[in-house]
Amino acid sequence: MHKEMERIQAAAAAVRRRTDFVPEAAVVLGSGLGGFADMVRQEAVIPYGEIPGFPVSTAPGHAGRLVLGWVESTPVAVMQGRVHLYEGYDPAEVVRPIRLMGALGARSLVLTNASGGIREGLEAGTLMLLTDHISCFVPSPLRGENLDALGPRFPDMSQVYDLELQARARAAAERAGIPLLEGVYLQFPGPNFETPAEIRAFARLGADAVGMSTVVEAIAARHMGLRVCGISCVANRAAGLSGSPLSGEEVIEVANRTAPRFRQLLWNLTAGLGRKNAGEVTV
Ligand code: HPA
Repeated sequence: MHKEMERIQAAAAAVRRRTDFVPEAAVVLGSGLGGFADMVRQEAVIPYGEIPGFPVSTAPGHAGRLVLGWVESTPVAVMQGRVHLYEGYDPAEVVRPIRLMGALGARSLVLTNASGGIREGLEAGTLMLLTDHISCFVPSPLRGENLDALGPRFPDMSQVYDLELQARARAAAERAGIPLLEGVYLQFPGPNFETPAEIRAFARLGADAVGMSTVVEAIAARHMGLRVCGISCVANRAAGLSGSPLSGEEVIEVANRTAPRFRQLLWNLTAGLGRKNAGEVTV
């Protein structure tokens, strides 16, 4: 068997030795959102260090735990903290947790992140639903021998962000009275922020917001047939658009400030993703 498949199966077996819980929805918590995992009625909490082959996050604001439990009647797997390419991990390592959650049974995936707003109106503290993405200078997580057991060599990416999940996210935001803007997210490798010239270039490429995660995870999830939703917390105006320098501290500060709203939105969205609801909403 392909080495990466063996690693995914070893990680799944380690989780299975702890619990037989089968998630329906998987969630990846970005900067500032870790508190969401504490709202979940927890069945099992597994530190990444106890899952063989699992990459351990070094980024600030990212605890490293896989939480399995319930959002109302929806069984969820929540990654409290993710790893990024800029930490030095290979793309295959960055997406291993996604593939693990798929192997555990998850059928949909909600990816969250913090980003810099490029388009006018995407100010610090706004939430943006991802309608599409641009992968920019970021290697594909599917590079190398294809994992045929998961998906095809050349997977389609014409609708990465599931239309029904988008509709559900809009409805969840509306119910909570939370404004939810929409746009195209561009992943830049980091860890340095972009230059103003790069941001001007990305605006011309069609990007509305820029960040350092999510796209590789969304690609791996689509490859294995998961339905994907992405929501970003715009933490700052992108480089050159606000007149002040960017800092990781500012990102964390704004993400933390926006977190209560973001958590509520995420709760409303995932609460509707239980098996009995799957497929009810059409667009
Ligand atoms: N650029 C890249 N990643 C980010 C930003 C940004 O401006 N803000 C939060 N994450």
